[in-house]
Amino acid sequence: MVFANLKVVDPEVYEAIQKEIERERRNIVLIASENYASPSVLEVQGSVFTNKYAEGYPGKRYYAGCQYADVVETLAIERAKQLFGAEHVNVQPHSGSQANMAVFFAVLKPGDSILSMSLSHGGHLSHGASVNFSGTFYKPVAYGVNKTTGYIDHEEVRQLALAHKPKMILVGASAYSRSLDFKIFSDIAKEVGAYLMADIAHIAGLIAAGLHPSPIPHADFVTSTTHKTLRGPRGGLIMCKAEYARVIDKMIFPGIQGGPLVHVIAAKAVALKEALSPAFRDYQSSVIRNAKSLAAELLKKGFQIISGGTDNHMMLIDLTNKGITGRDAEEALGKAGITVNKNVIPYDERPPTITSGIRLGTPCVTTRKMTETEMVEIADIIALVIEKSEDAERLNSLSGRVQSLCDRFPIY
Ligand SMILES: Cc1ncc(COP(=O)(O)O)c(C=O)c1O
Repeated sequence: MVFANLKVVDPEVYEAIQKEIERERRNIVLIASENYASPSVLEVQGSVFTNKYAEGYPGKRYYAGCQYADVVETLAIERAKQLFGAEHVNVQPHSGSQANMAVFFAVLKPGDSILSMSLSHGGHLSHGASVNFSGTFYKPVAYGVNKTTGYIDHEEVRQLALAHKPKMILVGASAYSRSLDFKIFSDIAKEVGAYLMADIAHIAGLIAAGLHPSPIPHADFVTSTTHKTLRGPRGGLIMCKAEYARVIDKMIFPGIQGGPLVHVIAAKAVALKEALSPAFRDYQSSVIRNAKSLAAELLKKGFQIISGGTDNHMMLIDLTNKGITGRDAEEALGKAGITVNKNVIPYDERPPTITSGIRLGTPCVTTRKMTETEMVEIADIIALVIEKSEDAERLNSLSGRVQSLCDRFPIY
């Protein structure tokens, strides 16, 4: 990546970008929500579409000169429809949270109740957390995972739905390693007359590849980010049944957003084309294979994994038996060159700033083409770090093993 012009115009930003490239190259990233977008996706985001205002939708814009913006937005919409089998798609949400906000604002009234997965059990902020708009404007009721199994307890969901009669039920998570049963959620929603919204931000790539059941036949609304397993630019999208197309489009624009980010929409189009390729399916199956392999190795080394393993791209490790907090584990692993995030575990007694767990995911390492062999090596390094997290010499020598992996598996 050259940035010859930037180097002269703004050396400070240039230098930060160079350092970020180095950071991404020299660390093994196990953050489940991150990925490396392809060079084409990066290129398109730096394209002249950055310059264009295109309020409205293809063929119905409030600005002149949108003919090429129409081309890329239509491509993104058609490719998303093909990939997921959706009736209607809006590719304009600036982020996953804004996609969620648009659905909420489109069909709920302030004060309506929603039933969603508790943030502390793996749900997302924008599903009703008290610090988020979703928990301020609406009345959230939360379901969680069973303390013993770590799986979502569908009977609990049903009982809560019957008791609270929510206007909308949400299914989708940021830290849940098991397959989601959209059909059961749909049955519960129908039973109580609620809308069903599925947020597939984390697992969109797996669904696109046919490796996780799809919510499309079951949910009224499906929201997603485009930058996690889907490996596109940062952003969101909404899919819905045709009957809701108008309310969703109106709520994104002019409801909660102004001009769409045409350069990002063009990059979404490119990422969606990549996702339609057979290579993408192979990539997603490697993501899952790597996650299962990493989980199995960590289990062998005495780590406790919530629910005992994974069906998808991530896992949540309970570090209680290792005598270290999530925060300290994140810091020690960082010193060895492994980037993870601390994460609360279900029924955690520690606050979110400390936590008893870490969340690990395999999208990034799989994009680097690492395989199960490297998962064994990474599990070994993680175990050695956690065992002696304060031994600077050991962390330093382990960082040598991390560097050699990074050298063998370049990001670009
Ligand atoms: C399930 C889920 N929904 C929504 C979001 C929000 O996405 P964004 O950060 O783009 O607002 C996330 C992000 O982590 C997520 O995990």
